[in-house]
Parts: sequence; C-alpha cells; structure tokens
Amino acid sequence: MTKNMTDSNTNGHIVGLYPLIKLLSDGRFYSGEHLGEQLQISRAAVWKKIRKLESLGLPCHSVRGKGYRLENSIQLLDAARLAQIVDDELGEHNLEIDLRAQVDSTNDLALDAARGGQSSGYTCLAEQQLSGRGRLGRNWVSPFARNIYLSMLWRFPAGARSLEGLSLAIGVAVVRALEKSSLSGLALKWPNDVLLNGEKLAGILLEMHGDSSGQCSVVIGVGVNVDMPQSAGVAIAQPWTDLGRHLSNVDRNKIAGSLLAEIYRSVQMFSESGFLPHKSAWEKYDGFFGERVSILLGEKELIGRAAGISDRGEFCLDIDGELRHFGGGEISVRKCL
Ligand code: BTN
Repeated sequence: MTKNMTDSNTNGHIVGLYPLIKLLSDGRFYSGEHLGEQLQISRAAVWKKIRKLESLGLPCHSVRGKGYRLENSIQLLDAARLAQIVDDELGEHNLEIDLRAQVDSTNDLALDAARGGQSSGYTCLAEQQLSGRGRLGRNWVSPFARNIYLSMLWRFPAGARSLEGLSLAIGVAVVRALEKSSLSGLALKWPNDVLLNGEKLAGILLEMHGDSSGQCSVVIGVGVNVDMPQSAGVAIAQPWTDLGRHLSNVDRNKIAGSLLAEIYRSVQMFSESGFLPHKSAWEKYDGFFGERVSILLGEKELIGRAAGISDRGEFCLDIDGELRHFGGGEISVRKCL
C-alpha cells in the first residue's frame, strides 16, 4: 500500500505550500495568474505563499511579466515511482510507503506507527525533518527536498538480544543500494556510518520500542546526503559529502527506491537468520581495518588497531596483542592521525 503526498498529510510550516512547490519544482517561470488558477486562490495569496517558500530554503525569483520561479529546480519524491521501483526490485513484499512533506523526525512517525499496531514494513519518508536525530544525541541536518530521510518499522518477537548486528546489516544494505548508482569509494565505519572517500555520506539510527526481553519493534532510520546545500552543511560537525559532488544527474527517487528495497531485503534476511550471513559483506566495506584507532567509551579513551568485527557484529580492538570486543553501547571510533 502506498500513500501519496497530499496537503492533508503535511504539517508544520509547510501546510498549504506543497501544491505550490510541486507546480514550481521544475525551476521554470509560472505567472501568478496561472498559479492562482491551478491552486484556486487569488494572485495576492500566491504571492504570500511564494514569500513563505524562502523560509523552507526554497528562494524564488520574481520577474515582472514572467512570474515566479524557484531559484533552483528540485526533484520531489513521488510515492508511485518509489512503489514501482520497490515492486520491480522485490517482487512480493509487505513494504508500505508513507510519504510526507515535513515531519519532526521520520523515526518519531515510525515509532508512533509501532505504538499504533502497524506491521513490519511500514516505512515513512519525508522531504524535510524539523528535528532529525543522529547518533550520540546529535541533530541530523535535513533540508527540504535535498536529501533522503526514511524510517522502516520491523517487529521482532524475540527481544533485544535478537537484534545484535542489525545496525551493521543495515549499513551493508545502504552501501549496496548506493553502489547501484556506480559510486565507488564507499566504506563503513563501525557500526554503520557510510563514508565516501572518508567523508560521511549517510547515517543510520536504530530505535527500539516495546519489551527488550520479549516482543519488540525496531525503527530503522536512514539519512543520505544527496544534494546538501552548503548553507545547511555548515551545521554538520564532521567532514561530510553528498551524492551530487560525486555523480551527475542524481535521481533521488531511484536512490530512495533502491534503499527501500535493499533495507527491506536485508532486515527480512536478518530476522530469519541473524547477523552471520551479513558479516563477510560488512568486512568487505570495513574502512578502518588494520588502522590505528582511538575509541571513546564514555570518558575513557582506548588506543589500538582496528581488528574487524566479531560474529555478533562487535567492534574488535587489538591493544598490544590483546583483543577486546565492544558492542551494544555507544562507543565512537576515530582514526588516529
Ligand atoms: C547518524 O548520526 O549517523 C545517524 C543519522 C540518522 C538520520 C536518519 S534521517 C531519517 C531518520 N529520522 C531521524 O530523525 N534520524 C534518522
């Protein structure tokens, strides 16, 4: 089942603006009269809405005699196209796409869906997040119609222990989906940061709902930088990149569709067979193997050599010949300079 975007499932600052954005998305000029006719509002009302677009990061040109156009054309997500790509890639599936214009966080929406009894495969995508969340309490910078923000819900009957390694398996799924657009230089940093030539391209945030020892649900949140404006990117506190810097003609729908299919495939396989079948693929993309690294464990810093991952997906650190495993909790890994 696919819910396409309408103005009624938008919220926040964007209410009433989405149909106008859709009309202007190709970056061409449209007269106030034409826009007013299409939207069934007055020309003055069109002008008011045009002014609001600026606050969404969509500045417009207005030229007397020509009308209005977006300064930069945008490619909006299209639920029907996404569904088609997913159908082509997966055949039979239970993936349900819920496409929104603006949300606080797609993870929040999927967590709400879990509380509301939605089944595995429910997936929310949004054009913009107002409070996108990253790992370690960071924000995830989420400007309108530039990147990909999605969250998939999956139910696990056997509790939190059965989730070991899931976040690594999702990292592999994201890399596989991105490689379909002929990107090279992709690597994973434990547990699941997706790096391109050492810079962060995509992030994954898993959040759990329910009973950690029994029936629980996981929300798999994935953000991919596709065309991050420099003005938004200044808020990112680490070296980052986006697909636009490495590929010409990025098709956001195609990339989002491939991500949905690969994540679905991967979580389905994980729920049947656990992490082990994903381990060798993760190792193939291990960007830190053999490097001297420092890991932060709360206040404590440990230095050693990255020695891959365990069968459970834990990070292995070789400290002067002694192998130590780190999993579960939040450690952060850095290459030593
Ligand atoms: C990280 O810090 O690397 C994880 C980033 C995860 C961002 C995604 S965007 C979609 C989903 N919704 C959120 O609020 N966060 C995740």
